This record gives sequence, C-alpha cells and structure tokens, in this order.
Amino acid sequence: MKIAKISKYSKPFSLECNSIAPDKSISHRCAMFSLLSDRPSTIKNFLLGEDTLASLSIAEQLGAKVDRDGADITVIPPKKLTEPDNILDCGNAGTGMRLYTGLLAGIKGLFILTGDKYLRNRPMKRVTTPLRKIGAKIDGRENGNLAPLAIRGGTLESFRYHSPIDSAQVKSALILAGLQANNKSYYRENLLSRDHTERMLNGMGADIKNIDGWIEIEPLKQPLKPLDIRVPADPSSGFFFAVATAITPDSQTLIKNVTLNPTRIEAYKILQKMGAKIEFIEKENIYEPIGDISIKYAGKLKAITVEKNIAWLIDELPALSIAMAVAEGTSIVKNAKELRVKESDRISTVLEGLNSCSIETIEHKDGYEIVGGVLQSATINSYGDHRIAMSFAIAGILCGMQIEDTECIDTSFPNFFEILLEITEVN
Ligand code: S3P
Repeated sequence: MKIAKISKYSKPFSLECNSIAPDKSISHRCAMFSLLSDRPSTIKNFLLGEDTLASLSIAEQLGAKVDRDGADITVIPPKKLTEPDNILDCGNAGTGMRLYTGLLAGIKGLFILTGDKYLRNRPMKRVTTPLRKIGAKIDGRENGNLAPLAIRGGTLESFRYHSPIDSAQVKSALILAGLQANNKSYYRENLLSRDHTERMLNGMGADIKNIDGWIEIEPLKQPLKPLDIRVPADPSSGFFFAVATAITPDSQTLIKNVTLNPTRIEAYKILQKMGAKIEFIEKENIYEPIGDISIKYAGKLKAITVEKNIAWLIDELPALSIAMAVAEGTSIVKNAKELRVKESDRISTVLEGLNSCSIETIEHKDGYEIVGGVLQSATINSYGDHRIAMSFAIAGILCGMQIEDTECIDTSFPNFFEILLEITEVN
C-alpha cells in the first residue's frame, strides 16, 4: 500500500497550471464514441489514467485499433463491433461500466463487464432496470444490480423515461441505447447533469435535442463523423488546487485550458461565494466552452449551505469539505445522498477524515454539517477513493498529513503529486 506524507507548508504560492489532468468524463466518452464512427477519431491529450485507459482497452477488445503517441491517440473503429473473447474490465470506473452497458445492450454478442472490488459493489440497477424495460438482456449479481454484468446485446425498443436520479452516467447509458433503438426516445432528469455526451455526439452528427427538459434521441441512420478533439483539463482535478489556493494566504493559481461547461464549474462558484476571488476566462468553444480559471486567496473563507445543483458538485464535495473545515462558521450539505454510492461512501469517508483532523461534524442520511476550525495533522485512510486521498493531501498543506492507500490517485490524476510538489513537500 502506498503512503504519502505531506509536509505542512503555509507559504504563499503562485501556480500556473498547464498540466492539470485531462478531463476524465470527456476521455471516457472519446474512447467509446469513436466506436460509433466508420472513420478514425483523432484525440489529443487523452487522460492516461487507469479509469480511462480501461475504457480504451475495452474499445480495443471490441475490435478498434488504437495508435498512440503519448497522450495523443487515434482510434480506428472496426467495421462492426465484435464479441470479445474475454471479460471486459472497467477497473474502478462507474462511468466506463454504466456507459458501456448502454452501448453494448444494442450490439449483437455476449459482453461481460467487471471491475475492481469497489466498482463491483456499486449500484448498477439504475442503468440495468431502464435498459431491461426496453428489451436489453442483462444479468448480474443481486438480479442485475452488481457487477460482473453479463449483457446479451440485441434489439432495443424506443423509450420515454423520467429518471429518478440526476446522473450523467444513467443519462448517457440511455442515450447510447436510444441511438440504437427502433424509434425516437425521450429522457428526462430533474437537473441537467453534465452534458458532454449530448454535446460530443451532436458534434459527431447525432440528433439529440433538449425540448422543454425532455431529451429527444433520434436513432442513428448511419455511422457518425469521427471525433477530432483536444481534451481540455479536468475542472474536478483542478479544483484540488483551487481549494489549496483559497486556504493559503496570499496565494494564486491559474488553471489553463479547462472545460468551462456550466455543469462542471459549480464548485468554483461555491468557493467564490465562500470568499475566494475567482474568474472564468473563456477562450474557445470546441464541443464545449474552454478557457482558464484564475483563483486568488482573498481572506478567510466563510461557511456556506449547499443544497441545490448537487449533481454539479458531486465530484468536488470532498475537496469543498476541506474548505468548509477551515471556514468561519458551520457549513451544511443537503440533498447529497448520491455521495454514499461513489468510489467510497463519501459522506462517511469525508467525515471520518475530518474527525481525525479534530474537526467537528454532524452526519445526516443525505448530507452533513462541518463546524469550521483548525485542521490538525492526522493519518487518513482513503478507502481506495482517489478524491478522498487528494482532498486530504491538500488539507496537509496547512497542517501536515499522512495519507494511506494513494495508488487510487492514478485512476484520474497520475501527475497530482508532481503539481503538489510545486507548492509543498511530499515524501
Ligand atoms: C460522470 C458522472 C458523475 C460523476 C462521475 C463522472 C460522467 O457520476 O460523479 O465522476 O462522466 O458521466 P453520476 O452520473 O453517477 O452522478
């Protein structure tokens, strides 16, 4: 087990970040959506993290050829996706497993999707139930709720589905199924979850419209145009350094070439409301708005209540909780029961970590409260969750920290410690 020791270092810093990890959500989709074209897709700056490399290797097992030049890759799709002769391993990635389930439900053949011990315990019913309703043949442990999932792909019917959860993974799985259905399908969610799938597929020539909150999906009549994309930096990965900046007096950071998709930058807006100085500088629009985010320390942070747009914050709440732990007053997080089914139960892993750092917290079923105070050095168990490991590594800048089980960081942000080393010492 890898252990990282972060040294206390509250000196001001000025960081210009060109090397925040490429976006994980977009990289997964690049690997998968390339399979829907009949020509090679060109993808620059693909995330070479374990999660997204797992999606890429599944694309290869389905018949694609991948040419790599570091992080720049070309995916040459097969004429027809082929039944693989082995199981497909999604690693730690819920996105990989749920999206591939939707895609493969409509392809002839047998596909077995599995993952690591954490992924094999995450709920899959949210995709298998609506997919089974439209004719997909999927089985798995707990009657199709837990991986390994066995998919016998075949014909899919069109659907009209109002999802009880705001989840881009569920939405994307159903969109991928809808593209292969016999007629137009409709999907609705209460809050628009991250919409990379709609933007990228439309950019490739699909017809996916949002009509009064219903997403209308026209089945594909022909293969899509290939992707030609440079993956922007991941705002969720950049957010760890945004929090580091907001809690270190006189510091500033510029995160460059990051997606400014409104469904992805809500956490920065919350940090702004807590008192940090944050600016968004849009520079271009390729599938989605891309630009820089500037973060400056602007005094001690103030507590905040977060209860809306939770799907837009779900990946950043662990890091945001570190900001809440040092803010003035009590912060409250509500309506966030989805946190319980992420890479770890993030309500309990965040609170256990904060309690070890002598921060007072109150746990609720679907949220928590954090009483701002002074973080104390501690030993933190990441429970194999990359975002827990990185959040507490950032807290370590203020007080020193020992983090156990840091291998998981490689799933999404392999160069995290290299950047952290620019502002503190890590052993
Ligand atoms: C993702 C969607 C979110 C997010 C995950 C990536 C995606 O999950 O937490 O890290 O790429 O679609 P949910 O859709 O389960 O909320």
